[in-house]
Amino acid sequence: MNLEVKHKSSRLTVSEAFLLAPREHFVDHFRHPVSGEWVRGSTYPEHREQIRRDMPLAIWANDSVVSTISQPTFVRRCLELLHIEPGQRVFELGTGSGWNAALISLLCAPGVVDTYEIIPELASQARHRLRRLGFDRVRVHTGDAMTIDHPWQYQRGIFTAGAQDVPASLHIAIEVGGRLLFVLRRHVGPDLLLVLIREITHFRAEQMVPCSFVPVTGETKFPKHDVQSMIDLTSKLGPGRQIDKFDDVALVRLERVKEFLQLHDEFRALKRMDGEFAWVTEAGSVLVAKPWTWFEYGPEGAAREVQRCLRCWQEWGNPRVEDLELNVYPRECAPAPRVPRQIHMHRADSVFVWSA
Ligand SMILES: C[S@@+](CC[C@H](N)C(=O)[O-])C[C@H]1O[C@@H](n2cnc3c(N)ncnc32)[C@H](O)[C@@H]1O
Repeated sequence: MNLEVKHKSSRLTVSEAFLLAPREHFVDHFRHPVSGEWVRGSTYPEHREQIRRDMPLAIWANDSVVSTISQPTFVRRCLELLHIEPGQRVFELGTGSGWNAALISLLCAPGVVDTYEIIPELASQARHRLRRLGFDRVRVHTGDAMTIDHPWQYQRGIFTAGAQDVPASLHIAIEVGGRLLFVLRRHVGPDLLLVLIREITHFRAEQMVPCSFVPVTGETKFPKHDVQSMIDLTSKLGPGRQIDKFDDVALVRLERVKEFLQLHDEFRALKRMDGEFAWVTEAGSVLVAKPWTWFEYGPEGAAREVQRCLRCWQEWGNPRVEDLELNVYPRECAPAPRVPRQIHMHRADSVFVWSA
């Protein structure tokens, strides 16, 4: 069956693309969300029904990694946020089933989609599937999309897995005026889908949407912090010191403060079994947030920076993270650190600068 030749008009809406490339054509097998068993997509009407439901489905897994085909309403939302125009060249991190790449290729026709998949088996399956279905303008590349040097310029780009950093190569590969949907992975809590617009020197976040994606794997995979070793660490650092109570940070607001601080690269937020949160700093001190107060362990440092962040956050009127301004600079072009009323988050290739 050739799905793409059915597409004749030059400019399609996202809804029309969904009709031309139904999700069920891209799921050969999946893990049944109820039974947990791997089943073939086309064997029983009940399985086809499952694929039509508005939920993500696991399409591949080993002991440590899962690949999913995303929830249709979220795929639709992302494609709408991308504002794809006919003739554009589009980058995708995370081919998975190839469904999203097929939808993009309908929207950017006669442009090309370069999609990257790190799991060779999935890349090969998607390549064959897309070829069989007639999506000739999708190029499936096998490899780690976080570390490649892009040989092309893109007007649009999309991540379908959560990462901590915008790779240096994308600062160059996305054209000025282009759009990149980037998924910022956080230590605790939902990921943030960032709609980034490429300005001359940096990316500016136009919108942020809480979301949930699988993490990127490969060389730059998201580090896991071991809760047990944190608990050991505080016991080794000796008795904690109680620090400022931040009286006006009421219990109800603590969730927001935690969310806010999780953005800061100096802190590694960890959920502890009794519901407390702890941040460890580069200097080796640890800060623990309790419902009404804060304790610092080890060398002084964590508290000072947390106080600075909290002061910013309170001066800004206790915003939600998605209401803040965000600019993402390549490391070598980042503004000077410690600018008042700015919070900088340093990653290997990019600096995320938050302000209100
Ligand atoms: C949510 S799934 C993608 C869904 C896909 N877009 C679709 O339409 O089916 C995320 C995919 O990203 C892949 N991935 C993770 N890290 C990657 C990396 N560094 N480079 C390329 N692909 C990666 C995963 O193996 C996984 O298949």
